[in-house]
Amino acid sequence: MDNIYYPRDAVLTDIKEETPTIKTFCFKLDEPLFFKAGQFMQLTIPGLGEAPFTPSSHPGKLTEMEITILRTGRVTDALHYEVKVGDHLGLRGPFGKGYPLDKFKGKDVLIVGGGVGLAPLRSLIYAIFDRIDDFKKISICYGAKTPEDQCFTDEFKEWEKKPHTSLHLTLDRPHPDWEGTVGLVPCLLEKDIIGVDIKNSYVVSCGPQIMLKFVTYKLLEVGFKPEQIYLSMNRRMSCGLGKCARCNIGPYYLCKDGPDMCYADIMDYPNVFE
Ligand SMILES: Cc1cc2nc3c(=O)[nH]c(=O)nc-3n(C[C@H](O)[C@H](O)[C@H](O)COP(=O)(O)OP(=O)(O)OC[C@H]3O[C@@H](n4cnc5c(N)ncnc54)[C@H](O)[C@@H]3O)c2cc1C
Ligand code: FES
Repeated sequence: MDNIYYPRDAVLTDIKEETPTIKTFCFKLDEPLFFKAGQFMQLTIPGLGEAPFTPSSHPGKLTEMEITILRTGRVTDALHYEVKVGDHLGLRGPFGKGYPLDKFKGKDVLIVGGGVGLAPLRSLIYAIFDRIDDFKKISICYGAKTPEDQCFTDEFKEWEKKPHTSLHLTLDRPHPDWEGTVGLVPCLLEKDIIGVDIKNSYVVSCGPQIMLKFVTYKLLEVGFKPEQIYLSMNRRMSCGLGKCARCNIGPYYLCKDGPDMCYADIMDYPNVFE
């Protein structure tokens, strides 16, 4: 498939309900598709439109893809309420650069997600588990509003069993069924909780803009340097190819140069967290 403007055929094989507002859509592809964890796709619903999403599945699965989607507006409402198993949708991509996994080699990796932001990170987590000996400690920090709003809970035990991997969870508010940490995601980033060697780590974070902002400030406060922090800047995008200028921060086009950006590269531009 050479024409990046032409959506490839993707048959919907399953729809899994993760939370009341988030579903995972499973696709069978007509031919193998190579993507790196963190690269994104444009998903087309014929007759309605397309929107950008980062696959949540294992990048090594070449003819299957999962995309985990929060219901938030026109396209995502149609995905949640109108499409059904067996429907043919379209996928364009992959776009963007993906996470710089080779750069993380020999280091601890701190993964920080909020809400549906764990979806792109799940793909990264699978990619890391495939070559886990390349990294030192892996620490996964994840926050959601309530127990019902947590994604991928059925995989948490498996993740924690991986060598030198730890999982830290928090909920925004107290809940009768929750005995764990309560507070917004930055509360997990205290030095004695995160479980990584701050000087020898990289951080990757994905979640709502407001979360990214306060996660970044907390990381800087506990001693991380801007060069160690990668943020998934999943903003409004259109062409995905660096042509329409809808997604820029300073000289960077998030669709082409990101969407995962090193904070050191973007920190001086005024619209980083807008
Ligand atoms: C590179 C990239 C990767 C993404 N990956 C995922 C993913 O894996 N899972 C997922 O659920 N979503 C993801 N998103 C966000 C997703 O693209 C939007 O939620 C979607 O485009 C909304 O389309 P809509 O027609 O349903 O909403 P619209 O009707 O267009 O908008 C509804 C509301 O959502 C807000 N909104 C729209 N787009 C975004 C956005 N990009 N970020 C924050 N708020 C937005 C609007 O401001 C509005 O308030 C990603 C976005 C980008 C750019
Ligand atoms: S989405 Fe068009 S330039 Fe980035």
